[in-house]
Amino acid sequence: MRKLSTVFVLLVILVGCKQQPSEETYQWQLPNEFPTPIVPVDNPMSQAKVTLGRHLFYDKNLSANQQQSCASCHQQQYAFGENIAHSTGSTGQPHRRNAQSLINVGYNKTYTWAHDQLTTLEAQILIPLFGEQPIEMGVTGHEEIILKRFNTAMYNGLVKDAFGDKELTFDRIVKALASFNRSLISLGSPFDKYAYQMQNNVLTKQQLRGMSLFFSERLECHHCHGGFNFTQSTSHQKQQLDLRAFHNTGLYNTAGKYSYPTDDTGLYEITGNERDIGRFRAPTLRNIELTAPYMHDGSIKTLSEVIDFYAAGGRQILTGEHQGDGRNNRLKSQFVKGFELTAKQKEELLDFLSTLTDKDFINNPEFSNPFSTP
Ligand code: HEC
Ligand code: HEC
Repeated sequence: MRKLSTVFVLLVILVGCKQQPSEETYQWQLPNEFPTPIVPVDNPMSQAKVTLGRHLFYDKNLSANQQQSCASCHQQQYAFGENIAHSTGSTGQPHRRNAQSLINVGYNKTYTWAHDQLTTLEAQILIPLFGEQPIEMGVTGHEEIILKRFNTAMYNGLVKDAFGDKELTFDRIVKALASFNRSLISLGSPFDKYAYQMQNNVLTKQQLRGMSLFFSERLECHHCHGGFNFTQSTSHQKQQLDLRAFHNTGLYNTAGKYSYPTDDTGLYEITGNERDIGRFRAPTLRNIELTAPYMHDGSIKTLSEVIDFYAAGGRQILTGEHQGDGRNNRLKSQFVKGFELTAKQKEELLDFLSTLTDKDFINNPEFSNPFSTP
């Protein structure tokens, strides 16, 4: 019996390798037969690329003025998000949006808060590197100088391991960073242990009641934050969902031509289609406890307030430039309809959301700053 199962496991591995020859050198950290993310054919995963990418991710030499690395805005302790409403770029320019957490991003169907055409990490990573509105790393115009900084014995070795020779280019930098980002897998939360590893005693009764509320038709949370990543925006090797994962949640209803603040109208900016005003991607709720403040502009401070927001069926802003009643936004999703919760039920829901926190993820030494001595 034992032998048989070993043979079976070997067979599965062999068949798996045959389908993805390019991934032989990389061992995904995926429990319980989770499907592997889709990887572009011209950038197969390898441990050497992930290692190079990790060094680049934490290296301030990658920004023109050496003030900022990717990790300045994407910090491991906050599940690779940030604990402030808006990020600031390397030259001090404010970013209008809240830095997203980087959790299972290899599975994302689209990238950033509101873009339906940005479908690979490789494409997304060009934005913080080369983008000028706002300037994040400020690479544009400083490519040569930046590349020279990486001509060190350590990087020569890492680049050679990853790509076969020591020449570093921005194409290779992007590929390595994308590989490191794909390696950021978080599937070890108490919820995962309960739902996917069949450990029945991990969640308390209160958390289970919160889970029922989360998945109820009355609250509808799961409608938009569904699947194993708690977002509709998931695709993987076994299945590609084709859902429009962008929604107007009634966060605003300002006066004027647009019902959202004009500096960020969401998906509308990309499509020009009026019905997309205020539509943003439903983000993952994994590690959500760690990623306050919330929403695309960091305008809700706590999880408790997020629940009040959904219970009210949108946000009413009484004064200031964004004054208006989001509950009546005519483009609001029909699934944000409001509901009543007792104080106890609210606690239960919050307690359930806390079961999505993966301590191993934020403490995983493989993801930490390779330059800081432990
Ligand atoms: C100045 C802060 C800042 C820096 C530096 C920065 N980011 Fe970001 N990152 C953000 C913000 C803000 C967003 C959301 C952007 C949006 O929605 O328009 C984001 C989004 C992302 C996303 C999309 C995540 C998702 O779920 O769609 C990825 C991936 C990412 N960043 C990776 C990186 C990498 C790699 C670097 C380094 C090359 C980097 N970031 C540097 C602030 C930053
Ligand atoms: C109609 C789809 C939809 C429904 C239903 C929905 N959400 Fe959301 N959720 C979103 C979208 C879209 C965003 C981002 C909105 C934005 O930034 O403007 C979001 C944001 C969030 C955030 C903040 C995430 C972050 O990283 O900042 C939390 C927390 C959240 N939702 C929890 C819930 C809970 C709990 C429920 C059920 C009570 C729920 N959502 C119901 C679509 C939905």
